[in-house]
Amino acid sequence: MEFFKVTLSLLVIAFLSANLSVAHPGFNVGWGGNGFGSFGLFPEFYQFSCPQANDIVMSVLEKAIAKEPRMAASLLRLHFHDCFVQGCDASVLLDDSSTVVSEKKSLPNRNSIRGFEVIDEIKVKLEESCPQTVSCADILALAARGSTVLSGGPNWQLPLGRRDSETASLSTSNNNIPPPNSTLQNLLTLFKRQGLNEVDLVALSGGHTIGVARCTTFKQRLYNQNGNNQPDATLDKTYYYGLKSVCPRSGGDNNISPLDFASPARFDNTYFKLILWGKGLLTSDQVLFTGSPRTTMELVKRYAEDEGLFFNQFANSMIKMGNISPLTGFKGEVRKNCRRVN
Ligand code: HEM
Ligand SMILES: *[C@@H]1O[C@H](CO)[C@@H](O)[C@H](O)[C@H]1NC(C)=O
Repeated sequence: MEFFKVTLSLLVIAFLSANLSVAHPGFNVGWGGNGFGSFGLFPEFYQFSCPQANDIVMSVLEKAIAKEPRMAASLLRLHFHDCFVQGCDASVLLDDSSTVVSEKKSLPNRNSIRGFEVIDEIKVKLEESCPQTVSCADILALAARGSTVLSGGPNWQLPLGRRDSETASLSTSNNNIPPPNSTLQNLLTLFKRQGLNEVDLVALSGGHTIGVARCTTFKQRLYNQNGNNQPDATLDKTYYYGLKSVCPRSGGDNNISPLDFASPARFDNTYFKLILWGKGLLTSDQVLFTGSPRTTMELVKRYAEDEGLFFNQFANSMIKMGNISPLTGFKGEVRKNCRRVN
């Protein structure tokens, strides 16, 4: 009996929500925070208010990534840097203004995150088709998934319905996004702060199967890893000499090296194979294989052996990361321009 009551009320809600969406395109209220917490985000959120949303995102991505394959990596990272700072609320997209101190100047972001023009182009197209309906936070999530798929990685059912913040936090961006020279403990702590565990850490680090990093993010490993003027002992020798030629002891800070040099534009599991061989680029990549705790080391081995397992877990962990503290219901807003509050 209880079951039927619940089912019936769900049907009523689904019916009402469908009608609301048709009557007021854009007025698509999520059910978070009103007692139906588990309805915060759901894949069909734009089914009635903007059914073509994902097609529009994909058509812009296809062009942008064909022009520059690295763009897929940059957009995937943008969603990560959004979600780790006051939740997936597009705070990372806000420019400086009288009320906002932009996150774009934080240590992890400065001279580093990119892809804003592509997000702008997607937003302009979405505003033409479905005015003030699709949030910038959802655009980031859609772009991250689309970039993964277009690079050869997994696809997944993406929960939607995030709304956009009216604030940003420079200090949270500095404190919550892990630095590249993090210890394993440090990585686990920063992921745990977001409700993510060691499985999520290893799977999501697999995002480094595409894209590049600047010399300044791995220089410490080449010249002074532990304050003793010695390179990181876990670095494969041949790889080490190659990296030194890209990243000299002084200068060259903005020279770049692929995170997965074997297939830098292909979303696959070679990132994990490289780690087995001492060829992870960042300290934060290689420490996953240090063995204390053993769990992350085991996971690196398993993902290196089984790409399907990695793809599955990456998809699951992306959904989990995408669920970090979204604004839903009447909270936040749907920005008209992702760079500023309405
Ligand atoms: C585990 C902790 C992580 C650390 C310490 C870290 C650190 C970094 C650093 C230092 C760079 C290079 C930035 C630059 O030189 O400008 C980078 C690039 C990148 N990161 Fe991470 N990252 C982490 C997790 C993630 C996650 C969870 C994702 C996505 C799922 C991700 C996706 C990327 C991508 C795709 C790039 C390449 C971007 C491009 O080429 O534009 N990273 N990361
Ligand atoms: C990481 O790099 C920062 C900035 O260069 C430095 O202050 C810090 O001590 C480094 N941390 C570790 C664990 O080496």
